[in-house]
Amino acid sequence: MGGLVALEGPDGSGKSTQLCLLREVLEGRQLDVVWTREPGGTVIGEQIRTVLHDLANDAMLPITEALLYSAARAQHVAEVIRPALARGALVITDRYAASTLAYQGYGHGLDIDMLRQITVLVTGGVIPDLTIYLDLPAERGLERKLVDRSAGQGEWNRMDQQALVFHRAVRAGYLEMAQAETERWLVLDADDTMQAIHQQIMARIEPLLT
Ligand code: TYD
Repeated sequence: MGGLVALEGPDGSGKSTQLCLLREVLEGRQLDVVWTREPGGTVIGEQIRTVLHDLANDAMLPITEALLYSAARAQHVAEVIRPALARGALVITDRYAASTLAYQGYGHGLDIDMLRQITVLVTGGVIPDLTIYLDLPAERGLERKLVDRSAGQGEWNRMDQQALVFHRAVRAGYLEMAQAETERWLVLDADDTMQAIHQQIMARIEPLLT
C-alpha cells in the first residue's frame, strides 16, 4: 500500500469536509496514513505560510508567491512526504504542486513551463498518484457579493471583476491539467452531496490501501 494523494479545490468546495470524512474512515483502520497540507506541513513551511498569508504583504509579486510556495514544498517533500512514501505510507495532502500551476500559473499568468521546472526541482519528481479536484464554478466563491449586488446592496467593483476573472482562470487551469492526465486525476462536482463525493473519493483511494 501507499502513495501520494493531493486534494485540490477552491474555498467553499467542501475540501475540508471531505478531508474530515476521509480521516474518520481511515483512522478506523490500522493503516499508516500521514495527513498534511500546503503551504505548511513542516516548521519552516508553516513560517513561510505566515509570510504568504500576511495581509500586510499585499505588494507580493506572483513570482515571489510561486517561489515561496515552492520553497515550502521543497521542505515538505524532503521532511514529510518522501520519508513517508519510502516506508509505504499513504500521504494525504491538502493541496500540492497543482495549486502553484493553477494559481500562480493559470491565475496570475506566470509561465507554466517555468513553474513545472521549478516544481520538478523542489519535488525531485515526486508526483501524486492521485489528485482529487473538487470542482466549483468561480462565481460560487463570489456568490455572496453577487447576491448583495443584485439586491442593490454593496457594489461590484473592479477588484471583484478581477477576482472573478482570476478564479475562472484558476478553475480552467485545474480542468486542463486534469484533462491532460485523466488516470492521475479525479474531478468531482462539488455541488454533489457530501456523501456522494466521499464515496467517489473512497472508491479511488481504496486501491492504494492494499
Ligand atoms: P488555505 O488557507 O490553506 O485555504 P484553502 O486551501 O482551504 O483554500 O489557503 C491556501 C491558499 O493558498 C489558497 O488560496 C490557494 C493558495 N495557494 C497558491 O496560490 N499556490 C500554492 O502553491 C498553494 C499550495 C496554495
